[in-house]
Amino acid sequence: MALLKSCKIISSVGAYTPSLGVLPIRASSWWSEVQMGPPDPILGVTEAFKRDTNPKKINLGVGAYRDDQGKPYVLNCVRKAEAQIATKKLDKEYLTIGGLAEFNKACAQLALGPDNEVLKSGRSITVQTISGTGSLRVGANFLSRFHTVAKDVYLPKPSWGNHTPIFRDAGMQLKAYSYYDPKTCGFDFKGALDDILKIPEKSVIMLHACAHNPTGVDPRPEQWKEISALVKKRNLLVFFDMAYQGFASGDIDRDAWAVRYFIEQGHNVVLSQSFAKNMGLYGERVGGFTVVCKDAEEAKRVESQLKILIRPIYSNPPMNGARIASTILNTPELYKEWLVEVKDMATRIIRMREELVGNLKKEGSTLNWQHVTDQIGMFCFTGLKPDQVERLTKEFSVYMTKDGRISMAGVTSGNVGYLAHGIHTVTK
Ligand code: LMR
Repeated sequence: MALLKSCKIISSVGAYTPSLGVLPIRASSWWSEVQMGPPDPILGVTEAFKRDTNPKKINLGVGAYRDDQGKPYVLNCVRKAEAQIATKKLDKEYLTIGGLAEFNKACAQLALGPDNEVLKSGRSITVQTISGTGSLRVGANFLSRFHTVAKDVYLPKPSWGNHTPIFRDAGMQLKAYSYYDPKTCGFDFKGALDDILKIPEKSVIMLHACAHNPTGVDPRPEQWKEISALVKKRNLLVFFDMAYQGFASGDIDRDAWAVRYFIEQGHNVVLSQSFAKNMGLYGERVGGFTVVCKDAEEAKRVESQLKILIRPIYSNPPMNGARIASTILNTPELYKEWLVEVKDMATRIIRMREELVGNLKKEGSTLNWQHVTDQIGMFCFTGLKPDQVERLTKEFSVYMTKDGRISMAGVTSGNVGYLAHGIHTVTK
């Protein structure tokens, strides 16, 4: 009591008790029931990498392109587009809810091909989104609200780690179909067909358009054709995730082949696009969400609802990245330069796959590493078991996701030998 009486007046928001003066009383916690959550399975790897002091450490966790010196890479066409934009001294007014119109048009053209009948007839709608994740989430919310006939979304087994929380948080239910065969480290075509055949009609099926994440395993065109026919037979709604257009083969048209084929076959797909990887616009958060509709009138109705859905989430998307992407896509010289730069990035990754296998052989590994060169895109699903991944991290400071995925984009001429040595040590 004596102690309390001696308290000075501390703040005007403390509790006032006439006999005791004003006391500072902290509100008891609102959040005592909140439990500590685990780090993100992909982005958490970078946090652990940053804490490591080993100078030889390698981060092969998150899919982010590095040049052959291991440095983040800003494309020349991006620098040029930024310079062009700066000279225009554009204003910073809000974009519309659906984003930058010239970006949306070019984004859809890139995916579908500029001569696509869907674009000519105006029976699709594209909105600018906050990169691929934002696109998937807008799509998931749209399905949750309007695809009321079925709440199940079938993901390939395995799929990108963020697919599950995105669809779950939007109120959809997650199911899976066979995709990857651990025995061959390749595509389980038969398993996929068997499972798709059993998917209840009108469910949603998620297809990775190219450079499947995390496995790097894509169906071949003749396999895509069978999948398309089966999906049609089951009357499934196709959700394409295309985060790597250009990154798989180095050719933007080849990588969009499956999306275009499905549309040609009459699937009215929904599509998420990201410009994080193929333009290196990671932190700019540029993406698009497209709904292919029956006709232009349906597209208008869908557009109105997408706007109603987006407005209370983030009101309207950020402009800077969309301006950059739009300038590149709509300026012939920059577009040409971009195609070369995408190809260069894809080619460097393909070369690193070959060098990794070469170095593993040099180390004396007798295991079959052919899947490393067979797989495509940013990631390699090494087939390493969780305990081997753990050793690789502990003993060699090589950081990767627990499922054995490595981002090939983080492998360089300088670290490929060390990486191969580490992999051989933990697998022999
Ligand atoms: C990845 O899979 O590493 C990338 O798509 C980045 C991310 O956000 O997870």
